[in-house]
Amino acid sequence: MSKTIDRKTFLSYLGTGAAALATASAGLGVLNGKASAASKTADHLFGFSTNRVSGYFEPIEPSMEDQLLLPNNFKYDVVAAFGDVINEAGEKFGSGCDYNAFFPLNGSNTRGLLVNNHEYSTVFSIGPVKDGKMTAQQQKDNLYYQGMSVIEVYRDEKGVWKMDTKSKHARRINGFTDFDITGPARGGSALGGATKAKGTFANCSGGVTLWNTVLSCEENFAETAAASSLPETHYGWVVEVDPFDKAYLKKHTALGRFNHENTAMGLAADGRVVVYMGDDKKDACVYKFVSKGKYDKSKGRANSALLEDGTLYVANLKSGKWVPVTLEEVKKAAKDKPEALNKFKTQGDVVAYCQEAALLVGGTPTDRPEDIEISPFDNTVFICHTNNDNHGNIHGHITRIFEANSDLGSLAFDFEIFAAGGRQSGFSSPDNLAFDSNGNLWVVTDISSSSQNKGVHKSFMNNGLFVIPTSGPDKAVALQFASGPVESELTGPFFTPDEQTLFLSVQHPGENTTDMNKPTSTWPHRPGEKMARCAVVAISGFKLG
Ligand code: FEO
Ligand code: CA
Ligand code: CA
Repeated sequence: MSKTIDRKTFLSYLGTGAAALATASAGLGVLNGKASAASKTADHLFGFSTNRVSGYFEPIEPSMEDQLLLPNNFKYDVVAAFGDVINEAGEKFGSGCDYNAFFPLNGSNTRGLLVNNHEYSTVFSIGPVKDGKMTAQQQKDNLYYQGMSVIEVYRDEKGVWKMDTKSKHARRINGFTDFDITGPARGGSALGGATKAKGTFANCSGGVTLWNTVLSCEENFAETAAASSLPETHYGWVVEVDPFDKAYLKKHTALGRFNHENTAMGLAADGRVVVYMGDDKKDACVYKFVSKGKYDKSKGRANSALLEDGTLYVANLKSGKWVPVTLEEVKKAAKDKPEALNKFKTQGDVVAYCQEAALLVGGTPTDRPEDIEISPFDNTVFICHTNNDNHGNIHGHITRIFEANSDLGSLAFDFEIFAAGGRQSGFSSPDNLAFDSNGNLWVVTDISSSSQNKGVHKSFMNNGLFVIPTSGPDKAVALQFASGPVESELTGPFFTPDEQTLFLSVQHPGENTTDMNKPTSTWPHRPGEKMARCAVVAISGFKLG
């Protein structure tokens, strides 16, 4: 069957709505309004008030154009771009936008706070770095433009999404913002006794908590820490911010220190909080944190204390076991390794040097685990293993974990390769994930700019956004929904609760530019400008079934 027919078949499913998908799905129960109930243990459908078809689109072909391309009848508005003023204090939108989370104001789907991560600086935000050494001004800009932005966004009467720069909530969080350190490493020797950390940076993806705060993940922190002579162990954590409370800023060390990609929060059958996390590094592990105490909805944000005390586990894919990354287990595993025994004296040491501890206790090295999402329909756990050229996994794959008894608190699991990147699937290097309320995965890709449109990556062209059903006859078939500008990566897909708007970041267009007079991309093509800007867009055009 040709790809075109496959796509048409799929479209007919989208077109006939949730009922057809439900009939076609095997073993997942009914994908109608009732299925939303299952979502209560996962954060991704946080707030979804509907269970509607979010598709009806004619898939696009791969493209090399310096444009953000969408299917017919969809449009995008640039909501905020690098350097835009976000509030009356004159603070500016950061660089390298990644994760997005939308928080409705007064229950609105057309006005809310958008929290955006800023992962790193580009040549357009700090200029070319000569001989690998940043000037004092570049160091300052590098810390200022990374971190996060909280902005207020709204859809005007003409249907155009805009930023409200008069917002009382709008603010920057960056390399100069103080954070309280919580958990086992707080005040310990691995952090030089620190109970506070200066700033957050390298904020990649993230997650929304069950109590409506944002977890943001510090990923490739080492370069920025080194450039500004900051203590390395103060970075590489999961930070928590409350978009509605400027004073609420935490780094949770119980969740381990590594190259954090994102968090996916759910509940164990007994009510403990579970947080899945990937470590975006070649030959690195998949983790989950399970809280000691149980979630109590009536306590609201006070549930955050659950992230300070619990057990961090690492996946052993060979035995199908979650292995505790605890001082006790590390000591057992290192009994004949004096150097390791000397390094790991407290649980604070274990979480601070988590990558080494996890491998010691038997964590399985995998192929760059990036985003993780919990299926709201069956509690299976999807992991993007982006790629790993150390051993020939050039196009990556999406792994699906089946926890024993479908309980996120289980310590045993099985897994499958749900979808593999490559010519046969039409995508390469899966990265961020989001579910829609019909069980389709929205997947963005991260082919590195140096590999795009070359060699075995040629057929994929620019990075894109794909829709992949997780059940039904088109299970695991990838349909392209968007194509990014030159040398960009699409990141941070996030739907409004009514699924009428999809927020998406366009990260690092033109990142390989060396001559500022000849940028390789000028997206978003602002009149009179000869530079590319990272930006968040709001995509509209979704029809409801
Ligand atoms: Fe920041 Fe792993 O992407
Ligand atoms: Ca990523
Ligand atoms: Ca990436």
